[in-house]
Amino acid sequence: MDSNTTWEEYWSSYDEQNVKEVIKYYEEFWRETHVLKEYCLKGKDLLEVGCGPAWYSIYLLKKYPEKKFNITGLDFSETGLKQARKLAKIAKVNLKLVKDDCKKMPFNTGSFDVVFSFGLNEHFEGKDRKKVWDEQLRVLKRKGHIVALVPYKYSPFYKLGKFLRELVKKWSFGLEIAYSEKEIKEMFPNKKIIFYHKLFLDSLFFSIPLPYKYSKKLRSFARKVKIPILDRFGWVMEVIIQK
Ligand SMILES: C[S@@+](CC[C@H](N)C(=O)[O-])C[C@H]1O[C@@H](n2cnc3c(N)ncnc32)[C@H](O)[C@@H]1O
Repeated sequence: MDSNTTWEEYWSSYDEQNVKEVIKYYEEFWRETHVLKEYCLKGKDLLEVGCGPAWYSIYLLKKYPEKKFNITGLDFSETGLKQARKLAKIAKVNLKLVKDDCKKMPFNTGSFDVVFSFGLNEHFEGKDRKKVWDEQLRVLKRKGHIVALVPYKYSPFYKLGKFLRELVKKWSFGLEIAYSEKEIKEMFPNKKIIFYHKLFLDSLFFSIPLPYKYSKKLRSFARKVKIPILDRFGWVMEVIIQK
């Protein structure tokens, strides 16, 4: 199965979200991943790569109208983009959506202040693994930032979640190779890179293939649990690279 088919199937099977749910979720989520929010709020021209239904962009536009963000979402899945168009219309926000390949984006060099992605860069291997980051750097303005959330290679929670999903044949993300700090530093030895780790216990429950109504309750509970000593082993690693 090629990767585009994987994502068309993934988004076709996904529950529809409503705007209220999206706002509430990201309000809680961003209390944890304040790094991303911090960078996005400093920018004006933003690009979300591999946006799917673009929940994050819609949240930003809805929550901070005074920022007058100019946000573009790019994805190659028509099904994901269709959900984004629908949600943006309900939320009454102006989100530009582009259907294209993130390895060769139809934007001029130096177009954006921040290029952000969630769960995208880990879906590439071989030459494409660096190409996706290079392409994001290309479209950034000078001194702009990439902010990427990727799974952390040494997180036991991530390993367990992936293992369980694969075991019960509920792994729907296709090829996924988690990152270490070392791998990213070696790709860009001359760049200023910041890594940020946080536990995200709720992501663990996302990984465990429970029926949706149970997983939703558990995730909501888990978001309230803070165990700072475990942050280093969190599922998600935020990577910030300055151009
Ligand atoms: C795990 S999903 C993440 C979606 C969204 N960022 C989120 O967190 O809900 C990965 C997304 O990347 C998109 N994607 C994968 N490879 C791509 C490519 N080569 N070009 C553009 N989009 C791609 C998929 O269609 C999918 O929507």
